[in-house]
Amino acid sequence: MQDVVAVVLAAGKGTRMISDLPKVMHRAGGKYLVQHVLDTLSAAGVSRVVLVVGHGANLVQEGLGDGYRYVRQAEQLGTGHAVAQVEKAVDPAERNVLVVCGDMPLLKSSTLQKLIEQHRQREAAATVLTARVRNPVGYGRVLRDPHNHLQRIVEEKDATAGEKEIEEVNTGTYCFDRDSLFSALKKIEPHNVQQEYYLTDVLPILQGKGLRVEILEGAEEEEALGVNSRQQLAEVEQILRQRTLQRIMVEGVTIVDPGTTFIDAEVSIAPDTIIYPFTFLEGKTRIGGKCELGPMTRIVNSVLGNGIRVQNSIILDSQIEDDCNIGPFAYLRPETYLARGVKVGDFVELKKSRVGENSKIPHLSYVGDAIVGVGVNIGCGTITCNYDGVNKHPTIIEDGAFIGSNSNLVAPIKIGAYATTGAGSTITKDVPDQGLAVERSKQKIISNWSQRRGKE
Ligand code: UD1
Ligand code: CA
Repeated sequence: MQDVVAVVLAAGKGTRMISDLPKVMHRAGGKYLVQHVLDTLSAAGVSRVVLVVGHGANLVQEGLGDGYRYVRQAEQLGTGHAVAQVEKAVDPAERNVLVVCGDMPLLKSSTLQKLIEQHRQREAAATVLTARVRNPVGYGRVLRDPHNHLQRIVEEKDATAGEKEIEEVNTGTYCFDRDSLFSALKKIEPHNVQQEYYLTDVLPILQGKGLRVEILEGAEEEEALGVNSRQQLAEVEQILRQRTLQRIMVEGVTIVDPGTTFIDAEVSIAPDTIIYPFTFLEGKTRIGGKCELGPMTRIVNSVLGNGIRVQNSIILDSQIEDDCNIGPFAYLRPETYLARGVKVGDFVELKKSRVGENSKIPHLSYVGDAIVGVGVNIGCGTITCNYDGVNKHPTIIEDGAFIGSNSNLVAPIKIGAYATTGAGSTITKDVPDQGLAVERSKQKIISNWSQRRGKE
């Protein structure tokens, strides 16, 4: 669609959010509101995008990156004023201008495609996307003439009691012929209750010139939902969550209780995985098949293979290969890598560590900045002492090593292949392959101790 440019309106403050963040940078379903709109455009095949930014412009640009054109609207004087700012940023090949609001994350790509298609087919100067809604409060109402053509759009604040009864609303989404749009924008005036330049006022101007203005009553009620308040943000979150859960179930995943399962829009899960209640899968997480996740598990931006069991645990920015068993109550911090068949048990924290195939860290351990080989057993209560108060140091534990319970491994340190450390040892020197390191005082026995204390 090289002849279509999308203009995304994202300059407004969102006064009713009561927030330091610009409205479009609030998150729902794990993404910025405006990112949903951008992804929908991309799914609809619209790759040319201009964003109108103003309030919190730097935050928006930093958050979304350099992949888009940005135009500043210094003062937010209305939607018509916002669109007028992009005239110079639109290039001559871009004949059709698709306008969308950055605060409407539920809009579907198929609806945008229908809008563009109808607009082209009918060679209209403008096509407005409308929806019929049960509660039209807050929206612009669509007034039609006796031939059912658009007469004009009236904003809630300017509407008479009778006009407020109308249930057909403007979704704030339009397709325009570029030249017609920019010439009509020069004629709009802020003669309304809000003293703003309304984009909707270009429609009667175009009709006055004898140009064709069309309506596509083609959006579902929920697609029209814009976020103007925290209540609407929660409503949108709920709907996005349902959509994601539906998609994931259709793809062959069991969700035991959709009411208590929270999965972000970009997460993917392969078939026959089972998700137990109170599980959160966030960000760009990818999960393989035949896993069992939860209950009470949070996995963020991580990649898991197949056949993995995770219960009551947290996994952040990590990668886990097939058949690992994690938890209950494990905490895997960023940059953890577990090879196949690793067991990480209860009350174990891992940070920035690689653990080789079939190694076990079954209970009560801290392993940080470590490289652990294949088939290693790390006994209960082991601690890698990786921090000297100034710097972090590495611990290397080679294949087949056996770390006795309650060992402290003071890094930097290397435990050789098939080496052993005695339980309760504080190991400060490298241990050679096959060797045993014990560091603890000899046990003393004092006979008849109780009798001597006069207790017996
Ligand atoms: C607008 C429409 C209304 C429609 C509704 C759908 C107008 C006059 N009204 O009303 O008919 O039913 O959307 O949600 O167009 N923005 C800017 N710069 C500005 C003003 C707004 O970029 O100067 C952006 C906002 O950030 C937002 C979008 O435009 O993303 C819509 O603005 P908003 O103030 O929410 O318009 P509504 O009053 O909802
Ligand atoms: Ca709005």
